[in-house]
Amino acid sequence: MGLRLGDIAPNFKAKTTAGDIDFHEYLGTSWGVLFSHPADFTPVCTTELGRTAQLEEEFKKRNVKVLAVSVDGLDKHQSWVKDINETQHCTVGFPIIADENREVAGLYDMIHPNASATFTVRSLFIIGPDKTIKLFITYPASTGRNFFEVLRVIDSLQLTANYSVATPADWKEGEDVIVVPAVSTEDAKIKFPKGLNIVKPYLRYTPQPNK
Ligand code: BEZ
Repeated sequence: MGLRLGDIAPNFKAKTTAGDIDFHEYLGTSWGVLFSHPADFTPVCTTELGRTAQLEEEFKKRNVKVLAVSVDGLDKHQSWVKDINETQHCTVGFPIIADENREVAGLYDMIHPNASATFTVRSLFIIGPDKTIKLFITYPASTGRNFFEVLRVIDSLQLTANYSVATPADWKEGEDVIVVPAVSTEDAKIKFPKGLNIVKPYLRYTPQPNK
């Protein structure tokens, strides 16, 4: 059975471009994004790591530490980072794990043998400060992920954690959010002083609480 939402993100020790780490210690009280890609010196991966580096401030603002996983070795990672920085006009500051023995890939089920026997697919896990898995997505090697979507999901998860609200389909920062079913309308009136729009007893909107 693979990992599921709410499971504790498996811990590991690894060599990375930022030194040796213990994953849980490295995350500390931060949120985490752990994402894999098929291999170093590949085109889609180069753009993904570049975009992640360009968004460094956005991740920092949200108290998120990012780690990339690749089954190549440290020397290869170090020289690939030079290419990423040059071609994507960025500075990769987050660690890239050298998962040569595929330990992390195995723990997180990142190798899908019917896609590739050796390379990791594009898996991405969002981990909460309590070390539980809040979200995972898996993309094929040929499709680069949308890192604005990753930030949007983090915003949604953090709103849920801090304010007991959910976010509707296609929600964007600043738009109304949904009061979760566990909060009664009576309590919601007190908890959300900006007001409620009660469309149905189970569909109640309120302005984004932290805006
Ligand atoms: C890439 O990262 O560009 C890539 C890797 C494997 C297959 C297709 C694309």
